[in-house]
Amino acid sequence: MTTVSEIFETMAYGPAPESDKQALEWLERHGRTFGLFVGGRWTKSKNGDGFDVINPATTASLARVTQAGAADVDAAVAAARKAFPAWSALAGHARARHLYALARAVQKHSRLLAVLESLDNGKSIRETRDLDIPLVARLVARHFYHHAGWAQLAQAEFAGYEPLGVVGQIVPWNFPLLMVAWKVAPALAAGNTVVVKPAEFTPLTALCLAELAHEAGLPAGVLNVVTGDGRTGELIVNHPDVDKIAFTGSTEVGRIIRKTTAGSGKKLSLELGGKSPFIVFDDADLDSVVEGVVDAIWFNQGQVCCAGSRLLVHEGIAERLVAKLRARMEKLRVGPSLDKAIDMGAIVAPVQLERIRTLVSRGVEEGATLWQPSWACPTDGYFYPPTLFTNVAPAATIAQVEIFGPVLVSMTFRTPAEAVELANNTPYGLAASVWTENINLALDVAPKIKAGVVWINCTNLFDAASGFGGYRESGFGREGGKEGMWEYVKPDRGSGLGTRGSGGAVGRPAHKARAVRSRVPSPESRVPPIDRTYKLFIGGAQVRPDQGYSRKILAPSGALIAEVAEGNRKDIRNAVEAAHAAAGWAHASGHNRGQILYYVAENLAVRAAQFAGLLDAMTAQGEATARSEVEAAVARLFSYAAWADKYDGAVHQTPIRGVTLAMNEPIGVMGIACPDEHPLLGLVSLVAPAVAVGNTVIVIPSEARPLAAAELYTVLEASDVPAGVINIVTGAKDARRCGISALRRAAPTWSARRRGI
Ligand code: NAI
Repeated sequence: MTTVSEIFETMAYGPAPESDKQALEWLERHGRTFGLFVGGRWTKSKNGDGFDVINPATTASLARVTQAGAADVDAAVAAARKAFPAWSALAGHARARHLYALARAVQKHSRLLAVLESLDNGKSIRETRDLDIPLVARLVARHFYHHAGWAQLAQAEFAGYEPLGVVGQIVPWNFPLLMVAWKVAPALAAGNTVVVKPAEFTPLTALCLAELAHEAGLPAGVLNVVTGDGRTGELIVNHPDVDKIAFTGSTEVGRIIRKTTAGSGKKLSLELGGKSPFIVFDDADLDSVVEGVVDAIWFNQGQVCCAGSRLLVHEGIAERLVAKLRARMEKLRVGPSLDKAIDMGAIVAPVQLERIRTLVSRGVEEGATLWQPSWACPTDGYFYPPTLFTNVAPAATIAQVEIFGPVLVSMTFRTPAEAVELANNTPYGLAASVWTENINLALDVAPKIKAGVVWINCTNLFDAASGFGGYRESGFGREGGKEGMWEYVKPDRGSGLGTRGSGGAVGRPAHKARAVRSRVPSPESRVPPIDRTYKLFIGGAQVRPDQGYSRKILAPSGALIAEVAEGNRKDIRNAVEAAHAAAGWAHASGHNRGQILYYVAENLAVRAAQFAGLLDAMTAQGEATARSEVEAAVARLFSYAAWADKYDGAVHQTPIRGVTLAMNEPIGVMGIACPDEHPLLGLVSLVAPAVAVGNTVIVIPSEARPLAAAELYTVLEASDVPAGVINIVTGAKDARRCGISALRRAAPTWSARRRGI
């Protein structure tokens, strides 16, 4: 008979492969041969050279790609240059819509991108599916969403600045698509056009993204992808018509690029290597530390620029921690990347595997103690086991050189001062982690470590809203957040040609702004039938008013357009209750709140003609004016969606030790009374900022012109706005006054604002 533990044993170790069908279909669709993606289409290389892309977990060839030569890079730069005037002249809102479409495309194709990345890079599908792609369907898509926001806000937030022009971007193989997104999203948001070169080992997801971007309506030439090795990279770096180079990769190549670009006028940002310290004090929660170490050095097989590769442990707990780590390492599983049950996949290429082996041998020669788990790695791919060195001297090669593999070196310290000294004993300065339960110690030590990012009791956390980058030999410049946007703009020198929104880069011909290319269908303008009676919108549902009465809404001509529910004090009380019940909205992430507002905008845009028809019927202002009010409402929703994850607090410099963090918080439940002018835009302008930052609202739309608000119910329903976040109560002024006093009693944080538009 099979015992339960035997069953668990089988379950624990059984392979659970992810299907590669979709990815293989995509490769087959291209005949497993790829040209370059230039000027919005696939092109053949002018020099005809190519090379195979290998699946490192099987060593089989996945596809053949192009080694782009000088003529190819010329063509890509020319395509980007041609696209630049129109792209940079687009209104920020139009660029925001494009980036938003790109984010949606990435989300929709996240499985294809995840599997393709695993096949190409060897990393475990768990990572690509749950990290890279959510970092590509959360961080990558998140990156595009976040930067759609910066595009939307660019004119106001980067006033006096303009895009640079054509940007050359060179990315490494460790997070192929994520690195592309980190670079492409801010560049495009700021109005630049791009020539991007993925690493020679991992070019497939960048090519796939270019194709998806094209299908999502990105104008031709805005995003161009050329493949090839370092020689292609050099051609981009040296190209006279490239205005900026953004590079992530080795410090050696970073040095070369810095020398080459010096004096050329090209703007430069470098994100290079690291040897990041992982500091554990004796009061740390050791079980959390162990999981932290797994994330820090064995995630992505240690091929992470900010990997916590130097474990610095308080002497008193070193033995205990090492024992726990060894036990955990014994349980890690290395294997084929598409197996969902593995922890670590393959090393990207033989050359990288050889580099790891050489450095590990050097560690042993220099007297450090090597430990690896008892199990053997599979032999049919480029696998390397998790490795731990103890008894490492601070000056040893393995303590100083970036190994870029699953190799952890550990050292001990006795005092916080010694920990800081050891942590800073490196030419690098990319990241660090500090582990302690003592907040005073953490806040004392963190600012003393020379690293671009210091994590406390966590590691490898990234977000599009937060700049990432290094000190010293880890490079300069930031990726992510507002600080990352500065890398892609320059002061507008007032030539009259270079202002964002009206022209291209300085000295280049300005092109006329192109109209927003809306990809949403415009249904026929349609006024609702005469007998239509709108209900109230409370707690996410359309509900009948308490007293069952409705009121007639008339056109300026006196004709009846429709009827709306007459809300009373009881309806307002219900709405207040629903708004309180939706308090969880305050704890949703800014990103989520932003996404929902974008979704409202998208669904409103789909029905723009209908809303314009309603506005026109209520105001007789003319179809064109009504249409522009709807467009303005959509743009305003984009603006507040953009702000949702950017309305940051501040770090104050106070004369005490450590830092002072000032944070914003929502008010709570808000009552909003809307003006009669601009019945839709007025409502959106008051409601969107309130909910963007986490408030829930009870909205009383214009009394005389409430139909656009009432028609909004179905837009809110279709846009995943959680129940109770936005409640709309139509009705007469008298009842509204009763309602407002009820609201005041029920919600002490209530605040009514009446604002002109
Ligand atoms: P690398 O720096 O040579 O390659 C990164 C990118 O730069 C690739 O797209 C490559 O084609 C391109 N490139 C190479 N030479 C160039 C040149 N002269 N001009 C312009 N572009 C050029 O990194 P590689 O060889 O793939 O890895 C070597 C070591 O670099 C690794 O062992 C690791 O230590 C480090 N590395 C660090 C990364 C990081 O994120 N900090 C990422 C990749 C590698």
